[in-house]
Amino acid sequence: MYGLPSLKIGPLETPLPIIQGGMGVGISLSGLASSVSRAGGIGVIAAAGIGMLEPGAKKYREGANRRALTREIRKAKRRTTGPIGINIMAAMSDFDTLIATVIEEGVDIVFIGAGLPLKIPATVTLDQLRACRTQFVPKVSSARAAKLILQYWDRQYGEVPPAFVLEGPKAGGHQGFKKAQLADPEYALEKLLPAIVEAVVPYREKYGRDIPVIAAGGIFTGADILTCLELGAAGVKMGTRFVATHECDAHPSFKDAYLHCREDDLIIIDSPVGLPGRAIGNDFLADVANGNKAPFRCTWRCLKSCDIRKAPYCIAQALKLAKLGNFRDGFAFAGSNAFRVKELVSVKELMASLIQEFKAATLLRQSEL
Ligand SMILES: Cc1cc2nc3c(=O)[nH]c(=O)nc-3n(C[C@H](O)[C@H](O)[C@H](O)COP(=O)(O)O)c2cc1C
Repeated sequence: MYGLPSLKIGPLETPLPIIQGGMGVGISLSGLASSVSRAGGIGVIAAAGIGMLEPGAKKYREGANRRALTREIRKAKRRTTGPIGINIMAAMSDFDTLIATVIEEGVDIVFIGAGLPLKIPATVTLDQLRACRTQFVPKVSSARAAKLILQYWDRQYGEVPPAFVLEGPKAGGHQGFKKAQLADPEYALEKLLPAIVEAVVPYREKYGRDIPVIAAGGIFTGADILTCLELGAAGVKMGTRFVATHECDAHPSFKDAYLHCREDDLIIIDSPVGLPGRAIGNDFLADVANGNKAPFRCTWRCLKSCDIRKAPYCIAQALKLAKLGNFRDGFAFAGSNAFRVKELVSVKELMASLIQEFKAATLLRQSEL
């Protein structure tokens, strides 16, 4: 009775309403994603920079993301019968190719971040999108962005997204907010959530199907999950907590950076892709802030929005190196609650503790009534 509800997104149903956020570069691959899926949630592989981890990728960059993503999807599917998701940033220059790849591979669900998915990718047709099993879920930072997508899809395609992820300003990684908004209470997740839940109502009624909203950004405990569900979310998406698991695909030093960081180590950087990002501060980032990094030669052109002439360093390369344990030339993205991480646990243990905390918080709420 006090347990977590299941999560339904289109035809998909998972026992737990917990989605593991896709984390690039190489932080969430088939290892983490399949473990989360086996534990009753939705595990997500991040496509960002995935091909950079391929042997010989520098030379054979063409198609490297597609190759690596295909391999990780197949690996994950061999390890679980549960749903596997992919995170693809709309800002990736091979976005269209990767969308075709996930459809070919029969992926269950795709979360699209860093840009609004409006136009149909050139590699697929509307009929293919309608016929495939893959659910395409946009990640947004406001009810306004959700409304834009809803209006566009409704008018152009006679469709609506099967769900939305709303990511608030406490999340790790690139932010959908201006720097000044990040600490503004008006933009807190709890403030933004009811507005987007409201925004989907007319479309839910028009299409006669649910459009669940998933909350993300700073969700740390089972009590936080309860708060989100009370505000109308159907589930949550968590990144930071899943980094501190044995199954996370990052190097042990990456996880150590989480275990040892303090609250004031968590900083907002100006990412070379033109967005603020939340990361664990280190000497590499201090050097960048002091202007001690120089523009570089880019062979990848991985992001549409990256201005290579002005970028003081390659963020994909820096994130890849951190994934491999090199913090001299790299750094870790992390959510604002990363300093609360105190131990490494298994995904199963993390899920069990979230369920336990959710039950305790629910009982407490009932006793307060
Ligand atoms: C290390 C790290 C890497 C991330 N990489 C991506 C990414 O490649 N694409 C994306 O859309 N979101 C990315 N995110 C955001 C997560 O998917 C998730 O939405 C976010 O971490 C939720 O906030 P939380 O960390 O406070 O739980 C990243 C987050 C972290 C911590």
